This record gives sequence, C-alpha cells and structure tokens, in this order.
Amino acid sequence: MFQRIFGCQPQLVASAPGRVNLLGEHTDYNQGLVFPTPLPHQTTLEAAPGEGIEVYAESFKELKRRKPDEPRQGDWLDYIAGCVWALRRHGYGVPGLRACVRSEVPMGGGLSSSAALEVATLRALRALYQLPLDDVAIARLAQEAEVEYVGVRCGIMDQMAASVGRPGYGLLLDTRDLSTRLVPLPQGYRVVVVDSGVPRRLAESGYNARRQECEEACARLGVSSLRELTPADLPRLSSLPEPLLRRARHVITENARVLEGVEALEAGDVQRFGALMTASHASLRDDYQVSTPELDRLVEAELRHGAVGARLTGAGFGGATVALVAEEDYEPFRQGVQRDYPAARFL
Ligand code: GLA
Repeated sequence: MFQRIFGCQPQLVASAPGRVNLLGEHTDYNQGLVFPTPLPHQTTLEAAPGEGIEVYAESFKELKRRKPDEPRQGDWLDYIAGCVWALRRHGYGVPGLRACVRSEVPMGGGLSSSAALEVATLRALRALYQLPLDDVAIARLAQEAEVEYVGVRCGIMDQMAASVGRPGYGLLLDTRDLSTRLVPLPQGYRVVVVDSGVPRRLAESGYNARRQECEEACARLGVSSLRELTPADLPRLSSLPEPLLRRARHVITENARVLEGVEALEAGDVQRFGALMTASHASLRDDYQVSTPELDRLVEAELRHGAVGARLTGAGFGGATVALVAEEDYEPFRQGVQRDYPAARFL
C-alpha cells in the first residue's frame, strides 16, 4: 500500500491493539483502578520519516497532509497530528512522517480505536526517530494528544491498555500512579465482545457531564478525588444531592469491584469475577446512568444464554458489551444471543 501511495518502500511497520475493559469503568479520571485487556484487533502503520504529516487511511481511502504546527481540523488525521504535536511540545524535534494506516479495530464501538491509532503512531515515531520513550511515556503522550490536541477529555486507561497491555492478561492499572500488574485471564473461558449496533460518539456524549459531576461531588465532600473514599465511606455520601450521590457511589464501588475481581481471578474463582462484571453493569446502568435500553437488553440476553458475567464496556451511551463465557458454552451462547438480539455483532 505504502509503495502505491508514496512510490517508495516504508521504513518500518508499527502497530497497537484496541482494548476491551473487563472491570473498572469511569474510574480512570477519578484516579481509580481499571482492568482492561488488549484485543487481537490491531491498527497498523507503514511509516517513513517525512517533512510534515502525510497519511493515507485505508478505511477512508483518503490521503491527507498537514504541517506539524497546524491546529486540529476535527478529522481522523487529528489523532496522528496530535502525536507529532505532543512530541514537539515536549522538545522532541520530530519533523513529521509519511504513513499508511490500516485498522481492524471497529470505530465508534467503545473499543478504543483512537488509542490504538495514537499508540501505533507514537511507536512508529519512536522507532523512526530513535526517541528515548518507554511504553508508559508513550501512553502519556497518546493521552495528551487526545486531550489537548483532539479535544476529548479521556482518562489514560485506553492508551495504557494499548501500550502496556499483553494479550491473554488483564492489566490491573492504578491510574493514581500508573503502576500496573498483569493478571492471567482464566483458561477455558472466552472474553466475548459484542457490538450492540448502536453507535456512540464519545465527545458528544454525557462523558464530560459525568466528569463534572464527579468533580462537584469531590468539592462537596472535601476530597481531591473519589479515590480517597472506600465502601466504608459510603454513609458520607448522604450529604450529596442527586445525581451526585449515585455518581460517587458508582465510582467508589467500582474501584472495590476491580480489587475484588483481581483477587477472585488470582484465586481461580471465575464465577465471582463474572458476578462482579454483572454488578458493574447494574451500577453503570442505575447509578452512573450511562447504559442504554439496547445495551441492557444485550447484557440480559448474554446472561440468559450462559455468560458467567456481562456488562457494557467503555464509556457507554451505546457501543459494545463484554461477556465472559466458558469455552464449551460458546456456541449455544452465540446462537441464543443472536436470536434474542439480532443486531448483535460478535467480534
Ligand atoms: C472512555 C475513555 C476512558 C475511560 C472510559 C470509561 O473509553 O477514553 O479513558 O474513561 O471511557 O471507563
């Protein structure tokens, strides 16, 4: 592809995966705990050094150009230009790149196609210009590109999952200090990602409103982040007006579910982990109020057809669900869910 567009060979190929979050939703911007795992689906760049940014995106069949210091334009190139911008902002004299992008990560499904693109871009730039960046630094720069350049106020879970995660492992990430632990996922079970067919637009959704509500809850409670509170502090929330009480309760109980879930997996208690996933969905639906009727119906169908646990994954407001299913139950599970929810798309 690169050869056809630019008339020469690329210097290298870099890629990064999408992610699915198993537990710990809407906690990463509250200094909390998350537990995502990378998907097998990758975003791949064939790349070479360049003066300025010149990228062909296979998904859009489109070649775009931008100067390194030009502002964002509200298009797909923002994610790549934002990476160059973030590096230059930190004093790395990166002049640009030429690249062809191909992505297997579905867009708009809550599976972090944007983080996959940012991390793949930064990996390409790191290799092209021999930048002294470790994988955590890559994740931080990717998040900076998305927040400061693209203009989406996301947390750092997606970029960390894409940069530091390993296939077959859950990544326990403490967003307070970015410490991580890889936890093997249980043998004999499948992590099943199902798209609800209802598209989701993160920037336009209630995501920023939820962040603001969390900030307001903190101000009223006199804490710097909701991470300072544990389930023992739940009685303190009675001083909060709705919906702040519910929002805070979700974040506090969700952090506890992540810790308990990791303990359960390490003890080989898959049923317990599944129950925590399902409890997370209920909390996202009732307290955080980021589910939709379709996501609820899909999760119910998944549980009815044999999932050990199921929940919406990512920001919510549409997008995908994640379910844990025993290998031997998978076929009847898939058929049953497809029958009850015909729009379901299995990844
Ligand atoms: C989006 C954001 C993440 C995280 C999730 C919700 O995926 O990009 O940082 O906040 O929503 O858990």
